[in-house]
Amino acid sequence: MGMSAKELVSFKEFEDLLIKATNTANEGITISSMDQPDRPLVFVNDGFERLTGYSKKDVIGKNCRFLQGKDTDEAPVEAIRQAIKNGERTTVELLNYKKDGTPFWNRLSITPLKDKNGVTTHYVGVQSDITELRETQKNLKAANKDLALFQDRINFELEEARRVQNFILPSALPETEKIRFSSVFEPMDQIGGDFYDVIEIEKGVYGILIADVTGHGIQAALLTFMTSFAFKNAALQTSSTAKVVSATNEKLYDKMPRGSFITMFYAVYNSNDKSLTYTQAGHPEGYLLRPSSKSVIPLTSESPLVGAFSGDSVNYRESKIRLEVGDKIILYTDAILEVWNSDHVMLSKDDFISFLIENSNQPIHDLLGRIKSFGLNYSGQKSFKDDFTMLGFEILE
Ligand SMILES: Cc1cc2nc3c(=O)[nH]c(=O)nc-3n(C[C@H](O)[C@H](O)[C@H](O)COP(=O)(O)O)c2cc1C
Repeated sequence: MGMSAKELVSFKEFEDLLIKATNTANEGITISSMDQPDRPLVFVNDGFERLTGYSKKDVIGKNCRFLQGKDTDEAPVEAIRQAIKNGERTTVELLNYKKDGTPFWNRLSITPLKDKNGVTTHYVGVQSDITELRETQKNLKAANKDLALFQDRINFELEEARRVQNFILPSALPETEKIRFSSVFEPMDQIGGDFYDVIEIEKGVYGILIADVTGHGIQAALLTFMTSFAFKNAALQTSSTAKVVSATNEKLYDKMPRGSFITMFYAVYNSNDKSLTYTQAGHPEGYLLRPSSKSVIPLTSESPLVGAFSGDSVNYRESKIRLEVGDKIILYTDAILEVWNSDHVMLSKDDFISFLIENSNQPIHDLLGRIKSFGLNYSGQKSFKDDFTMLGFEILE
């Protein structure tokens, strides 16, 4: 047997306790009688007095509609009317007025109290002042709208920036009977930090660059511009790749934001003697695919990255190799090697090289397409996590 309240305290004491408790509530608590004409209030708590400014004396015996005024919407009032008619509970938000005329937003819940025959004898109402809440909601809505507009503008600007960034990529890659180029360029954001370039330094001599600027977004995009211009300037002065990278580093070093840098692989191919000179500056090694011997030769020159160190402290080196007809050169940024499979195992360089050997007979364009699918298949994803850029060429004659 559980103890009822009556066993602990007398009914009178219990009633007092209940009223005391009711009066501590911040909310208005009201009871209207349903079997008296015009359903008057028979009880209001102290919370109701605090909320509305009306005293108990003012309101007991009156219908609670006196809180309504000229700007009160009809819809919530009608909802209350319907609920009372059907003996149901409901909650509405409506504009009410305090005794001094100050408007406030009232969240009103009304709940029927029924006798043992199911006839509604009373209604309990709970009133909360939600003026501040409504105000906050309104401000939030306005702020959200502003934010959405702002977001649209930023997206538009980024789109524009991307369009401009495309200008630093070559509009067409050289193609002669001696050499054919191909590229894949897929920035992760609207704008990214990867870019490449192919310039004809003199007839049959090509400067071939792939570069990766730290970071993404606007800053990376601006750095790609700076790098591209500094590089182009230098590349037209000399065919030494070490000198070009060194001059680019000199130009950029004191203008780069702290912590930013660029990795690049720069090669000069001379189709007259088929020589390839190259400088690998902090960048993944390039690959020479030689179908005649079914081999892949890594192209390295172990030079430091660009833009982070002053010219006195760094030494850029170049290497040289002679190419043969059928050879293919593959340059890329790190996205292709930074793929993980579903077991969280990163693609190994050995697997990548085996894949390149197997596919070394493919024409350069198909080869790049296959490398991309190879990376995506490995990761099981639809796109790469980073900017994805590849540049390649094959020696036709
Ligand atoms: C218990 C109870 C509390 C109520 N409290 C309020 C209130 O705080 N503010 C208000 O505008 N209407 C309140 N009403 C609604 C009005 O009393 C009335 O039911 C409503 O205006 C619709 O009926 P009418 O068409 O007779 O005005 C309450 C109703 C009940 C039953």
